[in-house]
Amino acid sequence: MANRRSCRRYRDENVDPAVIDSIISAMQNVPAGGNSQSVEYTVIDDKDRMRKIHDVAYTAMEEAAAQGRYTSSFDDFYYTKMKQSERSVRKGDMLFCGAPHLFVAHVKATGCWAADYAINCNLATAYFELLANAHGLGTVIMSYPSDVICELASDAREMLGIPSDHYMKLLVGFGYPEIPYARGTQKNHRKVHRWTEQTKGQLSLL
Ligand SMILES: Cc1cc2nc3c(=O)[nH]c(=O)nc-3n(C[C@H](O)[C@H](O)[C@H](O)COP(=O)(O)O)c2cc1C
Repeated sequence: MANRRSCRRYRDENVDPAVIDSIISAMQNVPAGGNSQSVEYTVIDDKDRMRKIHDVAYTAMEEAAAQGRYTSSFDDFYYTKMKQSERSVRKGDMLFCGAPHLFVAHVKATGCWAADYAINCNLATAYFELLANAHGLGTVIMSYPSDVICELASDAREMLGIPSDHYMKLLVGFGYPEIPYARGTQKNHRKVHRWTEQTKGQLSLL
């Protein structure tokens, strides 16, 4: 946990399929509301296939932007900022951060438990990320490319084979990291509420 961080530079190499199988196998213990076990996983574990999906989604994104159309999460300002990030953190790929592989948790989320089903997906995403990190892989959780695929690039969604009535929101890009880091990022997130006679449940820096 202390060593996890988003990876946006990957080696141009397929991950050993045995490693991916081991992660997916461990995923059977991911919790789900009501133990529904309805979440489905799509794994793109071939970098050439990933490149094809990338190219279709990226072209659709750029064509839309040229007409002033963006995902609902972005506007001209944020799109331009992301484009600029291709020259720094996103190494020529603002969409998938250059990841050679993709993991997507998705589910048919309808009815009164639709929100729980969506949460199940996002939990699975978080577990996958940590498991992949534990196996020495680099990962990045991404919402932007999911928005592009769902809103601007239906062809890419078809290539992923994710049914149009399934909920999907977060993708995990993963692969062998180009840069091995000795430690994670140092953060100082201490927004913890604790009830004591002094704080009475107010936010206190612990
Ligand atoms: C819900 C969610 C959506 C994210 N979407 C993107 C994204 O579209 N592109 C991206 O490069 N990083 C994305 N990230 C990664 C965050 O930017 C990253 O986790 C955050 O900056 C903290 O950095 P760290 O993961 O290295 O600790 C996303 C993370 C989360 C949790």
